[in-house]
Amino acid sequence: MGNTVSVSELESYFGEDYIHFGDVVNPPETSDRDAGVIWTHLSLEQGSSVLELGCGYGRIANRLGEKGARVVGLDISPILLAKAEADAAERNVNVEYLLGDMRSLPWRDRFDAAFLWYTTFGYFDDVDNETVLCEVASSLRKGGRLLIDHANRFAFLRHKSPIYIVQRNDDLRIDIMSNDVLSDRRNLERIIVRDGCVRRTHLSFRQYGFSEYVRMLRSAGFGAVEAYGEEGGAFTSDSSRLMVVAYK
Ligand SMILES: C[S@@+](CC[C@H](N)C(=O)[O-])C[C@H]1O[C@@H](n2cnc3c(N)ncnc32)[C@H](O)[C@@H]1O
Repeated sequence: MGNTVSVSELESYFGEDYIHFGDVVNPPETSDRDAGVIWTHLSLEQGSSVLELGCGYGRIANRLGEKGARVVGLDISPILLAKAEADAAERNVNVEYLLGDMRSLPWRDRFDAAFLWYTTFGYFDDVDNETVLCEVASSLRKGGRLLIDHANRFAFLRHKSPIYIVQRNDDLRIDIMSNDVLSDRRNLERIIVRDGCVRRTHLSFRQYGFSEYVRMLRSAGFGAVEAYGEEGGAFTSDSSRLMVVAYK
């Protein structure tokens, strides 16, 4: 497997099957809690302008909209965006959804805050991953905040079984994970067994450590960079998540 994920691989991985198992992996109460953590750690207020990169089917963006933020969600998957828009309409919330690639953003000095939630960073090679950070920096106004939530690779290596299964009724989503020690990437082979059919997709992402985030974010134009664990607690080697908050 290479050191980047192509657009067609992303579209295949983040398609209808991703939505089908979404609420099993992240039930509504988890999404409520996630939205609260993001609200607090980005110091959001009523009327704050917020950009979610890789917003998926809008489980976070729509909740932040309900709390009173002015939210723009960008994603590369048309299928997930259609679901995000339908959910926004159902909730009667106004969120702007855009089809696009986070490696090239149209805004300059526009947002109070931006975030990439739930392992949405690192799909590409180092140059493109750093391009994403530069594009976010340009999109934020001076003093704007960026939050990136990712798996903590120390905890991942220690605790995670290489096979992770999610079940919804008779349907199964089976993830077979491996680490590439030469590229610091995690590879994920996904097998979907649904309605009697079997489909395979895969994803791979770079597992950056906190000091690497600091170097990349400083070079993209950010100043202070902070580390938190899951739900905003202290970041330790046992934390399941690494949540990075950077200030422009
Ligand atoms: C792991 S999902 C997370 C979705 C959402 N943040 C959540 O918490 O439910 C990653 C998302 O990033 C999107 N994505 C991947 N590469 C992208 C790119 N280059 N530009 C924009 N979105 C991208 C995928 O389509 C997917 O919706």
